[in-house]
Amino acid sequence: QEAALQGRFQERVDAEEKIEPRDWMPEGYRRTLVRQISQHAHSEIVGMLPEGNWITRAPTLRRKVALLAKVQDEGGHGLYLYSAAETLGVSRDELVGQLLSGKAKYSSIFNYPTPTWADIGAIGWLVDGAAIMNQVPLCRCSYGPYARAMVRICREESFHQRQGYELMLALAQGTPEQKRMAQDALNRWWWPSLMMFGPSDDQSAHSAQNMAWKIKRFSNDELRQRFVDATVPQAEFLGLTIPDPELRFNAGTGHYEFGAIDWTEFNEILKGNGPCNRERIEARRKVWDDGAWVREAATAHAAKRKQRALK
Ligand code: ACO
Repeated sequence: QEAALQGRFQERVDAEEKIEPRDWMPEGYRRTLVRQISQHAHSEIVGMLPEGNWITRAPTLRRKVALLAKVQDEGGHGLYLYSAAETLGVSRDELVGQLLSGKAKYSSIFNYPTPTWADIGAIGWLVDGAAIMNQVPLCRCSYGPYARAMVRICREESFHQRQGYELMLALAQGTPEQKRMAQDALNRWWWPSLMMFGPSDDQSAHSAQNMAWKIKRFSNDELRQRFVDATVPQAEFLGLTIPDPELRFNAGTGHYEFGAIDWTEFNEILKGNGPCNRERIEARRKVWDDGAWVREAATAHAAKRKQRALK
């Protein structure tokens, strides 16, 4: 019976049919989606922190408005994604609990600090650029609610990437000191951005199965290569240097070759030992505790309305 269901499920996936919440699905498929979608949601929520750090100090009103809108979008992405995860039978409370207890992962990239204004440009350009590269294929993910959430998210991410690049351009064309700030931010964000795509294919535990289930459409290394190929010319246009002495264009393959990634740094961050891991979780815990009265008030209000409706 189970084998027949599995076979039918795989046929539907192979035929590019969307799997919906009430459809039969293998337990492993459900579990891996809960894992990936919730990690993705946590990343959006924790990702508000490094940039939120600059909202009060944005240099102009125009920059402040753009940054506020972007950080707000990220909060919205987190909420869509928690909703998509909830269609798989987990509660948001449970997922948030996993984040606050340190059990759940979120993207490694959000554990780096944002000491200068140029970091806001570098995050938009590189981090959101990497996010788009990874997320556009997720719009075709086999699980309907995740795929549909990703369509709107990608449109917003694209605006985020543009505002970041435009900010970098303004700095790169500014005073020598501004250009130095832009270069310094690129130096610090380049390698962590490459790590966002996850471990190399031979180390990626979930890739093969996730590609068979059409959750993932491309492997971690394929997407990383596409990102490098798209981003190097953008750095050249800015007049900035990618901090990789081994970076070179291979005319034979049509791709850029790049140096070795420091996976020790990546693994340390995943273990909770990155520069800002503790600070990020602390900040989320504080927000959760400070917001307790809002949740209590909303619950009491909903109960009262329900009682009134019964009268
Ligand atoms: N940061 C933290 N953890 C990571 C990262 C990363 N950059 N890359 C991989 N990992 C984790 C995986 O979650 C997995 O952990 P787990 O088994 O404990 O759950 C482990 O490393 C092994 O990696 P893979 O086998 O390659 O995992 P997977 O097939 O899920 O691929 C990927 C990882 C590419 C991140 C995938 O989950 C994905 O596409 N997620 C959706 C996009 C996303 O979450 N983006 C967040 C950042 S973008 C933003 O928020 C702006």
